[in-house]
Amino acid sequence: MNEKVHVVNHPLVAHKLTILRDKNTSTKDFREIVSEIGMLLTYEATRDLPLTTREIETPICKMEAPILRGKKFAVVPILRAGLGLVDGVLRMVPSARVGHLGMYRDEETMVPVQYFCKMPRDIAERDVLIVDPMLATGGSADAAIQIMKGYGCANIKLMVLVAAPKGIQVVQERHPDVDIYCGAVDQGLNENSYIVPGLGDAGDRIFGTK
Ligand code: PRP
Ligand code: URA
Repeated sequence: MNEKVHVVNHPLVAHKLTILRDKNTSTKDFREIVSEIGMLLTYEATRDLPLTTREIETPICKMEAPILRGKKFAVVPILRAGLGLVDGVLRMVPSARVGHLGMYRDEETMVPVQYFCKMPRDIAERDVLIVDPMLATGGSADAAIQIMKGYGCANIKLMVLVAAPKGIQVVQERHPDVDIYCGAVDQGLNENSYIVPGLGDAGDRIFGTK
């Protein structure tokens, strides 16, 4: 791991992740907390957004006050589970555009299979934040980053809730230019390439499909 990996060590994130990890957490609570952590991680992932100033008048005096420079920004969830994070990002950056990337892991090979892609027309000009709760083998994230680079996107970040060391290694080797933001780095993967201890199947738990 190097300076491109940002583990958001914050008590609120740690506490909320524990609720997600608990197998007894309801679908409703799971979905709400994924969104909340999405918001907290976005706070870190947008730390370098450029600012400019605007003159305003407070009740006391005039001032040059900081405002976002309005750089073009897009959030790209990897379906399905990435959808759970979009709301949290949009609450922090309401003007963001949303591109959708449909992908699932083949259960035997773990190779990601793409089934959908719909991007904003000007995606090449936008800073892109790819979101997905889980970075396991890294196959899905690698493919997603590759697709966004294929669109001409030059500034890409990846935001996940839980990462396995293997997934981080794969993304760093294949895409050393991409910053990774995560809530925790777990021990590893089990024989089915699920993150250990992890939180189980994120898509199933967000959408209640199991
Ligand atoms: C999960 C998860 C990631 C991927 C991570 O999606 O949301 O996209 O697996 O695994 P990897 O790092 O080994 O590629 P899944 O394939 O279960 O699809 P879903 O979101 O539709 O449930
Ligand atoms: N996908 C998930 O949803 N969970 C994991 O632990 C690994 C991949």
